[in-house]
Amino acid sequence: MKSSNSLDAKARQILRRNDRGRYTVPTADLYPHQWNWDSAFAALGLATFDLDRAWTEFETLFGGQWPNGMVPHILFHQRDTDYFPGPDVWGTPGTVPSSGISQPPVAATIARRIWERDPAGYGGRMRALFPKLAAWHRWFMEWRLEDSAVCVTHPWEAGRDNAPDWDDALARINPYDVNGYVRHDTKCVDPEMRPTKLDYDRYIWLVNRGREVNWEENERKRKSDFRIADPTMTFILLRANRDLAEIGRRLGEDVSMLEKWTHTLEIGAETLWNPNLFSYDSKDANSGEWSNCVSNASFLCWYAGIHREEMRRHFDRVTRSVAFGIPSHDPESEKFDPRRYWRGPVWPVINTLAGIGMAEAGLESEASAVREFTSELITRNGFYEYFNPCDGSPAGGGDFTWTAAIWIDWASPSAGDEKWA
Ligand code: SER
Repeated sequence: MKSSNSLDAKARQILRRNDRGRYTVPTADLYPHQWNWDSAFAALGLATFDLDRAWTEFETLFGGQWPNGMVPHILFHQRDTDYFPGPDVWGTPGTVPSSGISQPPVAATIARRIWERDPAGYGGRMRALFPKLAAWHRWFMEWRLEDSAVCVTHPWEAGRDNAPDWDDALARINPYDVNGYVRHDTKCVDPEMRPTKLDYDRYIWLVNRGREVNWEENERKRKSDFRIADPTMTFILLRANRDLAEIGRRLGEDVSMLEKWTHTLEIGAETLWNPNLFSYDSKDANSGEWSNCVSNASFLCWYAGIHREEMRRHFDRVTRSVAFGIPSHDPESEKFDPRRYWRGPVWPVINTLAGIGMAEAGLESEASAVREFTSELITRNGFYEYFNPCDGSPAGGGDFTWTAAIWIDWASPSAGDEKWA
C-alpha cells in the first residue's frame, strides 16, 4: 500500500500526463478528447497546484459552447483518433467539432470553489466565464425541463451511460439503422465492464436521430425519442445554479433570474421523489413511468441541499450490502452488476459529490464513510475510473483524470476538510 504523499504525487503526475496543453483528457486511450464534466473535475485537481492552468481548462471547454448556450459533452480538438462515435457520426453544426448533447453541469460549482482560492487574482477570468455559465444554465431551463425537473435526451447526457434507469425507455427503441460500426471502448477495456452491444445500438440510433434534425432542440423535443427526468442533472444543476448566483452576487451582477431558476429546480427535485420506492428516482417524461432505481445519483440530494431521512436509511441499507459504497445501482436489485460500468460499480467522482453534500448537511458519519471508502479503493488499487463495490477490484480506464483530481482535492488524507459552500 502506498503512502498518501506518494499518491498525491502520482495524482499530480496523472493530471500532467493527461494534459494536452489547453484541455485534459479523462484517460489516454479510452477517452482521447475533452469531456465536459471530466474537464471541470480536471480543473479542480489542477487548481491545487496550478491555478492558471485550471482556468484555462474552463476557457477551452466554453470555447466549444454553442450559440444556443449548450456546452457539448465532448469536444473533439483532434481528429486523428479512433474514438467512436467521432465527429462525423455526430455531424454537429458547431465551430469546434463536438457531440450534440450536454453533460451534468458541475462547472459553476467547481469554478466557485477554485475562484475562492484567489478571488482578486482571478476576478477577470471569473467575470468572463460568468455569462457563459449562465447561458448554459439558461439552455437547460429552456430545453430540458419537464415538471421543473431536468431531463436527459440520451443516456450519455446523464453521464450514467448504462444505468438501469434507462432500460425500459431503451427497450422501446428499435435500432434499425445502426449496422456496421466498430466500437473503440471494448478494445481498451474488458467488455464485461462496459455497456452491451444492445445498449450501444440504441445509443447510436439516438445519435442518428439528433443528426437527422441537425441537433435542433425544437425538433428533438417534438419527437421526444428519449426524455427522462434525472436526479443527476436535476440535483447538479440546482446546486450549480445556487453557486452561480453566489458568484454573480460577489461580482455585483443581477442574479434575479438565477434565483428564479433555483426556485423552479427546488420544485422539480421534489417531483423526482418516488413515493413507492421512498427514494429519489428518474422518471420517463414520455410514459410517466418511474425507473424504480435507487442509484448513486439518488444520494446527490444533500449536494443539492435537500435532506430526506429515507435517503439516509437507503444509504445504510445499500452500504451494508457491499464492502465499498456507494454502489451505482441498488445491490438488492436483480439488475445489480458489480463490474459493469453504471450498473453497480462505485464511482469516486459521484462519491465526492455525495460526500460533500452529506458533510454540508451535518451527516458526519455518512460523509466520513464515503470518504474512507473512496480513499481506500484508490490507495489499494490506483486511480481507476470505477471499482467493484463487492471486492474493491479496479475497473474501466486507469490513470483516470477525475479520480486523480478528487484524490488531491478531497479523498487524500492530506486534503483539507473545508466545505464547498
Ligand atoms: N461515456 C461515453 C463513452 O464511453 C460517452 O460519453 O464513450
